[in-house]
Amino acid sequence: MPRGSREACHTGCAAYPEGVSAPLVLGIETSCDETGVGLVRGYDLLVDAVASSVDEHARFGGIIPEIAARAHLEAMVPTIERALATAQVTLDEVDAIAVTAGPGLVGPLTTGAAAAKALALGLGKPLYGVNHVIGHAVVDELVDGPFPERVMALVVSGGHSSLLLVDDTVHVTELGSTLDDAAGEAFDKVGRLLGLPYPGGPHIDRLAREGDPAAIRFPRGLTAPKDQARHATDFSFSGLKTAVARWVESRRDAGEEIPLEDVAASFAAAVADVLTAKTIAACRREGVSTLVVGGGFSANSQLRDMAAERCAQAGIELRIPPIRYCTDNGAMIAALGSAVVRRGMPASPLDLPVDSTMPLTQVLV
Ligand code: KG4
Ligand code: ZN
Repeated sequence: MPRGSREACHTGCAAYPEGVSAPLVLGIETSCDETGVGLVRGYDLLVDAVASSVDEHARFGGIIPEIAARAHLEAMVPTIERALATAQVTLDEVDAIAVTAGPGLVGPLTTGAAAAKALALGLGKPLYGVNHVIGHAVVDELVDGPFPERVMALVVSGGHSSLLLVDDTVHVTELGSTLDDAAGEAFDKVGRLLGLPYPGGPHIDRLAREGDPAAIRFPRGLTAPKDQARHATDFSFSGLKTAVARWVESRRDAGEEIPLEDVAASFAAAVADVLTAKTIAACRREGVSTLVVGGGFSANSQLRDMAAERCAQAGIELRIPPIRYCTDNGAMIAALGSAVVRRGMPASPLDLPVDSTMPLTQVLV
C-alpha cells in the first residue's frame, strides 16, 4: 500500500530540501483494544503492525478497560519489534515518537504513553502526544496524498461520531458530534438486541446487504426543521435504537418472526442517510469540496455506498481509506505525527498526561 516517495508538501508547511528525507516517525496507538505501531516517513507508510484484544472482550459484550490495558502491555514490545523488522529499520533510525494522548480509555492510553515516553527518553528523540480522532482522518494522507487546504472530516467509530472542519491538516474546528450514541455504538447495541455476536456492527452490515432498506421507516434523528437551528451538524442515534427495539419487541410479543435482514437494512439506511445528508449539507454551507471519512464505522458498506452516491451528485471529492486504516491503528498516529513534525510544531513534554476526553480541537499536547 505505500505510495511513491513524496517529501515535498503542499503550501503552508516546511518541505524538506532536495536529497533530504523526511523524518521517520514511529506511531503508537492504544486508545481502545488495538495495539497499533506504525512507521511513516513523510507521506509514506513503511509498516502498520496491529495486535488486537477484541476476542478477549467478546464474552463480556463490550471492551473491559483493564483487560485491554493488560493486553497492550503484553503486545507492546513484540508489536514494536515486528514493525521494525518488517520495515527493516532499527530504533536508532527513528527520528520522532508519536503516541495517542487521547481521547480513549485511560488505562490503555497510559500503557501506550508509558512505552512512547520510555522510547523517547531512551533514544533522545522528541515525543508528540497526538489526538487519535484526528488521526482517523489524517491517515488518509498516506493513501490519497496530502489534504487540500481545507477538508471536511466525518469521523465515525464505536466511540465517536464527529464532523470536523480541518485546515492545513492540523487545525481543527469541531462543527458537531453525536449527542448520545456514536454510530458504531448504536450498531453494536442493535446487534445485541438482534442476538448477534459482539461487536454487532459488521454483522448488521452483512445482514443489511441481503435486506430491503425501505422495508421499515425508522426515524432520522435531529433532521426535523426545528433541529436545524441548533443541531444542523449534530447527530443522535439513541431514538433510532429505541425505535428498532420497540419494533422488534412488538413483533416478538405478537409471536411473529423478525425479518433480520430487513430490520438491519432499514436501520443501516437510517444511520447512513443522516450521516451523509448532514455532512454534505455542511460541506455546501462551508464551501468545502473534499470530504474525508474515517474511523472504524467507516468500514460500513451502507455508509460507503450512500456517501459515494451523494458526494458524486454534489460534486464533492470523497476520500475514504481502505478498511484496515479505518479501525484503530498505529499508521494513523504516525501519519499525524509526521504532519505535526513537518509543520515544526513543538514537541510534547516527557511527562505528557493522557486525556480520555481530549478535545477534538487539540491536535497535539
Ligand atoms: O474505530 P474503531 O475500531 O474503535 C473505536 O475507536 O471505537 O471502531 C469500532 C466500531 C465498532 O462499534 C464496530 O461495530 C463498528 O466500528 N464497525 C462497523 C463495521 N465495522 C466496524 N459498524 C458497521 N458496519 C461495519 N462494517
Ligand atoms: Zn478510533
